[in-house]
Amino acid sequence: MPVYNKEELVRFVEEAKQYARYGKVADYIPALGKANPNELSIAVYTADGKVVDAGDVTVKVTLQSISKILALALVLIDRGEDEVFRKVGMEPTGDPFNSIAKLEEVQPSKPLNPMINAGALAVTHMIRGRSVEERIERLLAFIRRLAGNEQITYSEEVAQSEFETAFLNRSLCYFLKQHGIIDEDVEELMDLYTKQCAVEMTCIDLARIGLVFALDGRDPHSGELLMPLDVARICKTFMVTCGMYNASGEFAIKIGIPAKSGVSGGILAAVPGRCGIGIFGPALDDKGNSLTGVKLLERLSKTYSLSIF
Ligand code: DON
Repeated sequence: MPVYNKEELVRFVEEAKQYARYGKVADYIPALGKANPNELSIAVYTADGKVVDAGDVTVKVTLQSISKILALALVLIDRGEDEVFRKVGMEPTGDPFNSIAKLEEVQPSKPLNPMINAGALAVTHMIRGRSVEERIERLLAFIRRLAGNEQITYSEEVAQSEFETAFLNRSLCYFLKQHGIIDEDVEELMDLYTKQCAVEMTCIDLARIGLVFALDGRDPHSGELLMPLDVARICKTFMVTCGMYNASGEFAIKIGIPAKSGVSGGILAAVPGRCGIGIFGPALDDKGNSLTGVKLLERLSKTYSLSIF
């Protein structure tokens, strides 16, 4: 187990920040456009329960697509693999995260995987509960247990901002509804999905959730099983094959850590058996992944030999 030290992490953050000028903050969700592209923070949560961090780790980051992995874990627990994979596939796409193209090309027209927006919408549709409130509360309760933080909630402002502008996601929903993948009211699903994406937390919370996946679903402090081993395994596998969208192949070669990104600039990473990593760096590359965050992870992976391959 490498000894992560703060001075080294601070130095790596400063190095990676140099790349911020080549990135761009997401602004298709207007509230995300307010982020500072020069911000970069990281927390590493090791299996012995210690945290080393650098940058301003008090800043909260909305999960955006990172929430897809958590919603997937919840519906796998709720409904089991067979039911979930009847509605969503297991294959990477090579397309951007919000692409509609494959829905038309592939028959039956179920989304190819739960990490692209179409697949995530199908997964969110499967969150059990009698109302949007009950469903988001169930997801929040699950996320709070994983993070060991009862304070976690969603940002009303970011949820509302996405709800008002998510026309492409609405198109995906209508397509899915036409083809029988979902059968609920589209506005209701968008309400739930935008709240799910707006769940916010610090890098330390992200790192702790990453560690739960790294420990095959176990709470790092109590040892309690927070999700079945198979659910943790499926989620980590999707992180490797689709977690960084159409950059997943390059990420696997250069970094080799199961990880999930979000357009807010967050990254959650799980180094099996060793640590969870949470990063916030809102300067994005052209595929919607944190440019500075990926540079930072690459440095960490090379320095501490973290690749699983
Ligand atoms: O649905 C969306 O477009 C956003 N709420 C989430 C997309 C996202 O985070 C893609 N990730 N890199």
